Amino acid sequence: MKLATQAAAALALFNGLAVSSPMSSRAAAGPQSTLQQVTDLYPDPEGKAKMYVYVPEKLSPKPAVVVALHYCAGTAEAYFTGSPYAQLADEKGFVVIYPESPHEGTCWDVSSHESLSHNGGSDSASIASMVDYALKKYGGDASKVFVTGSSSGAMMTNVMAATYPELFQAAIVYSGVAAGCFVSTAGLVDAWNSTCSQGESHATAAQWANVVHGMYPGYTGARPRMQIYHGSADAALLPPNYNETIKQWTGWMRTSPTRLGADFPLAGYTTTTWGAEVQGIYAIGVGHTVPIRGDDDMTFFGL
Ligand SMILES: *[C@@H]1O[C@H](CO)[C@@H](O)[C@H](O)[C@H]1NC(C)=O
Ligand SMILES: *[C@@H]1O[C@H](CO)[C@@H](O)[C@H](O)[C@H]1NC(C)=O
Repeated sequence: MKLATQAAAALALFNGLAVSSPMSSRAAAGPQSTLQQVTDLYPDPEGKAKMYVYVPEKLSPKPAVVVALHYCAGTAEAYFTGSPYAQLADEKGFVVIYPESPHEGTCWDVSSHESLSHNGGSDSASIASMVDYALKKYGGDASKVFVTGSSSGAMMTNVMAATYPELFQAAIVYSGVAAGCFVSTAGLVDAWNSTCSQGESHATAAQWANVVHGMYPGYTGARPRMQIYHGSADAALLPPNYNETIKQWTGWMRTSPTRLGADFPLAGYTTTTWGAEVQGIYAIGVGHTVPIRGDDDMTFFGL
């Protein structure tokens, strides 16, 4: 089944990206530079997903690169205006890549065998090549590359962390599902998977870790640090997807979890950490739109 009305309806609930921390003067001023489409072709093996970039006026030497992935029915422009990363780029001098989905309904392909494989093609390969392009074009620092996204963009963030672990140092997931949870057993591109969205895809930590290993067999290098946000009242991607995602990224770890206590980083949120590698933030009573915490994201990325 192609991404149809059901999916569009479910994930288009993700409208109006709220930004949690008061953006005050930043929001009032808006980004100082503009969003640009990259038209000289980046080496996209698929040639489909569009690449947009935000390059601040005061670009750092050897800038970091942040990939910011929009939600279903979103666009690069919508995520540029609705998320805090461009203003943060003005402050910190990094480049933001805003990829844009080529699919009807603009969800990301997190279901096909191609996208769920390292160098397999489809959207994951497109986004990886955007990173390569940006690192070359702007003289970026390959040791400071990050990925984040909301909803479908959060699912794609998990997929990028699984398929291209060598590219990213850290990833932040706002209301997604585990990489591979949306798989289409028929191999369909950009397919909806209601078993997963309904929170009925359960696997052990070892099984989820195997799913990740299967996306890039033989890879033994470092993996990105992961931060996972999910709302307990999420009606589009049901709350069990939080635990499944946590299990996926802690599956091979021996670290025991530490609970940072209730009401951290704010009232009603519960944060659990597994060493420095994985942090889960469960937002009690929050629905599918968990507000982006731009300043905290910078801290997690180390920017
Ligand atoms: C949906 O994903 C689950 C894994 O999360 C998988 O077991 C199931 O076969 C998928 N459904 C379809 C129709 O491909
Ligand atoms: C996640 O798992 C813990 C115990 O492992 C459980 O207490 C909690 O209710 C689970 N959360 C969800 C959203 O399923």
